[in-house]
Amino acid sequence: METIRILGIETSCDETAAAVVENGRVILSSAVASQIDLHAQYGGVFPEVASRQHIRSIYPIINAALRDAHISLQEVDGIAVTRGPGLPGSLVVGINAAKGLSLGSGLPLLGINHLEGHLYSAWLHNQGADLPTEPQFPLLALIVSGGHTELVLMDAHHSYRRLGATLDDAAGEAFDKVARLLGLAYPGGPAIQRAAADGDPQAQKLPRAWLPGTWNFSFSGLKTAVLRLVRELEANGEELPVADVAASFQEAVVDVLAQKMFAAAEEFGAKELLVAGGVSANKALRERILTEAKLPVHIPHISLCTDNAAMIAGAGCFRFSSGRRDALDMDAMPNWPLSELE
Ligand code: KG4
Ligand code: ZN
Repeated sequence: METIRILGIETSCDETAAAVVENGRVILSSAVASQIDLHAQYGGVFPEVASRQHIRSIYPIINAALRDAHISLQEVDGIAVTRGPGLPGSLVVGINAAKGLSLGSGLPLLGINHLEGHLYSAWLHNQGADLPTEPQFPLLALIVSGGHTELVLMDAHHSYRRLGATLDDAAGEAFDKVARLLGLAYPGGPAIQRAAADGDPQAQKLPRAWLPGTWNFSFSGLKTAVLRLVRELEANGEELPVADVAASFQEAVVDVLAQKMFAAAEEFGAKELLVAGGVSANKALRERILTEAKLPVHIPHISLCTDNAAMIAGAGCFRFSSGRRDALDMDAMPNWPLSELE
C-alpha cells in the first residue's frame, strides 16, 4: 500500500494544533498549544482572545509538528485543515495558514469537518504503540464535545446518518456550566471528574431527560436542577456538597449517554460502537460504556479525545485517499453539520 502522510492543522476553538499522520492511523507527531490558562480567567473561551492567540502560535506549532515527525513540508502529500464547525475568527487563522502553505508548496488542500476529525481519532494510535483494531461498519458513533452531542450511524467511510442530537446544551457545555455553578475551574469536565472522585453518585436525585421515541438529548433540565439545588442550600445557609453533586451530575449524564447509545446500536443493527469528542475523556463514561457494551467499543486514547490536529490529519488521510481536494478559495464553515458531508 502506498504511504500517505498528511499535515493536519486545527484552530476551531481554543487549541492551536498541528500534526503529521501516516495512512490515517499512525501519529508521527502531534503538537498542541492550549489556551486554557488564557481563557480560565473568563470562565470560558473568549473568541477575540482565541483568534489572536492562534495567530501567535500557528507557525511555531506547524514547525514543531514537522520537526517532531522528522519530515519536511515537501515530504507530506497534503495539508488538511479544520474548515468547521467552530469559531469563525479562530477557523480562519488555521485555514489561511493552510492556504499559504498549499500555495507555496503546491500541495493539495483538504478542508476537514471537525466532527469527522473527532470520529477518525478512533482510528489513530501513537507510533510504536500496538495498532488497535480498525473500527468496522455499520458503526454507531456518539460524539460528545463542548459544542456537540450527536448519535451518528456510519455505514461506510464518510457516510453519516444523524440519528439524534442535543436539543439544548451539548454534554461538554453542561459539564462546563455545572462546574461554574459548583465554583469549579474551567474547563469544567476535568474539574467535575476530579471533584466526583470523592463523591457519592447516588447522593442527589437529579433528572434524566430520556426523550423516548427519539434519539435526541437534552441537558438543560439537569443543569437547572443543579442550579435550584445550589440556590436552595445557599438560602438555608448550608454548605454545598460539591463532590456529591458533581458525582450525581456526572452519573446522570453518563446514564443517558450510555443507555441511549446502546439502545440505538440495537435498533439500527450496528456491529460496533465508537465514542469520541472531549467528553469521551471522562473516566466514568469510558468505564460505563466499556463494561456494559455488548459490542466492540472504540474510544480514542485519552490524549486524543480533546481537540488536537492528529484527528484532522487522520481524517485528511482518508479524504485524500477518496480523492478529495479543495480549492484555494475554500471558506470557513462555522456551522457545518456532518450530514452535509459528501
Ligand atoms: O472536543 P473538545 O475538546 O472541544 C470541542 O470540540 O468542543 O471538547 C471540549 C469539552 C469541554 O466541554 C470539556 O469540559 C469536556 O470536553 N471535557 C470533559 C473531560 N475532558 C474534557 N468532560 C467530562 N470529563 C472529562 N474528563
Ligand atoms: Zn472538538
